[in-house]
Amino acid sequence: MRGKLIVALDFPNMTEVRRFLDAFESEKEPLFLKVGMELYFQEGPAVIAYLKERGHSIFLDLKLHDIPNTVKSAMKGLARLDVDLVNVHASGGKAMMEAAIEGLDIGTKLGRKRPGCIAVTQLTSTSEIVMQEELWISRNLNDTVLHYATLAKASGLDGVVCSALEATSIHERLGEEFITVTPGIRLTSDQLNDQTRVVTPEDAKKLGSSSIVVGRSITTSENPMETYRLMKNAWEGVKI
Ligand code: C5P
Repeated sequence: MRGKLIVALDFPNMTEVRRFLDAFESEKEPLFLKVGMELYFQEGPAVIAYLKERGHSIFLDLKLHDIPNTVKSAMKGLARLDVDLVNVHASGGKAMMEAAIEGLDIGTKLGRKRPGCIAVTQLTSTSEIVMQEELWISRNLNDTVLHYATLAKASGLDGVVCSALEATSIHERLGEEFITVTPGIRLTSDQLNDQTRVVTPEDAKKLGSSSIVVGRSITTSENPMETYRLMKNAWEGVKI
């Protein structure tokens, strides 16, 4: 799960997914794709089967947050889909995160690797002001993210979803093995949309992100394939 550029397939249905992926036909390497709520709640497990048939790796980003027993049962089912990465909200607490891992262990097919499991610390659309004034979390954003990440590690998770701006301090405290998957990635020429803590692919690399997630910069681009290559080269430090 290191060094990947994960493309967020934030589309409403399979027709749009197919249209988008058709443009990537000349790309020889399989892609690492993120399926989130928008797509999964419409198309369900069929979309996962479709992407796996084509050899792509999958981050199923459903951000589970419920009582431990429900999360455990849900994770048991998600593990059977044989995806590569799933996630929960760290704010669900330690018992919930431990239950997530338990469910994944039970659901993972014999001889397969358990899907990686990471925790959302704070959404990259959440600013410190919103976190403090709406969520009533009085600490600063960086300390809160670090605390949630520490809790995730203590619960047996493999890493966190966070802003690249927090990746350095997380790796300093929790080590390089603990992965940081960072959305909120933009080219300098892009719009912010609803994200607030944004970083370019080059800076994400410098800050130590393990992998980056890119959505609208690629999916709404006039030429998605070209933008993908551009961002991947920037992320991998390839000079062109
Ligand atoms: O379009 P954009 O690049 O902003 O997409 C970012 C993707 O990452 C979205 O699919 C969003 O759900 C996801 N995400 C995020 N912040 C998190 C966790 C996931 O933006 N903390």
